[in-house]
Amino acid sequence: MGSSTAQRIVERGYAEVVLLDIIEGLGQGKALDILQSAPVLNAEIRLSGTSDYKDTADSELVIVTAGLFRKPGMTRDQLLAANAEIVGGVVRNIVKYSPQCVILMVSNPLDAMTYLAVKVSKLPRQRVVGMSGVLDSARLSAFSAAELEVSPKDVSAWVLGAHGQNMVVIPRLPTVKGKPLTELLPRETIDTLVERTIHGGREIVDLLKTGSAFYAPSAGIARMAEAIILDKKEVLPCAALLDGEYRIKDSVIGVPVKLGRGGIEEIVELDLSAEEKQKLYDSAEGVKKLIEKMGVG
Ligand code: 2OP
Repeated sequence: MGSSTAQRIVERGYAEVVLLDIIEGLGQGKALDILQSAPVLNAEIRLSGTSDYKDTADSELVIVTAGLFRKPGMTRDQLLAANAEIVGGVVRNIVKYSPQCVILMVSNPLDAMTYLAVKVSKLPRQRVVGMSGVLDSARLSAFSAAELEVSPKDVSAWVLGAHGQNMVVIPRLPTVKGKPLTELLPRETIDTLVERTIHGGREIVDLLKTGSAFYAPSAGIARMAEAIILDKKEVLPCAALLDGEYRIKDSVIGVPVKLGRGGIEEIVELDLSAEEKQKLYDSAEGVKKLIEKMGVG
């Protein structure tokens, strides 16, 4: 996922990227391969590979994809203990060399790892954001577009909550050219699309057997990275540590976030019904259970 993300970012040309892997040669090899595509693409690619955190010093944005991924039959939550150990060490190294950075967390279980990154880095909560809502929303948009035989560009979906079983899909939010999905498809079809979205990652894990998704996740990461680096002030569904927004405190879930150079510049509070707010609250409570297990709260 890290190397596809690097490829997407350098091909757009708006940032210099350092690709780090603790396995000596892996970051360097991948970087060299991507660099050699520059003449063919007629692109100016600024990329290097390393296994030494020193080479990442003074980064503006650090994207963390480190950690184990699921095997068929596993939930993301089963990665908690192993990935907390890995991500904790990674985050300590990040802030040692780039104390002013924004961290974009991608490792799973995403919401708990984003919380861990805030605590371990001691950065203000605005500077740590997680990628899942862009991916989950893209999955719902893609499935809805295929069902309706329309361009995915015309489907705008908002998927909130935790990245997992407790994802919050509010059926009235997705729209197709401004029309709510609920006016275009029968309830049972929408339920099937929502169910497929919630299990979108697992469907790919089951097919690949030895890996998990990376094309769509890296597209989601690159979209968020661009909003941060280019200070776009774009509102996207992102995992954020909440402090009273949506009546949720001290937990991380996906909510609409305005992204800019400072990271999370605003948490946008949608006008939700009491039932919808309750769904978000329950989702955040689920993440709290994982946070308690990590013992970092
Ligand atoms: C997914 O949903 C990797 O969690 C990621 O595919």
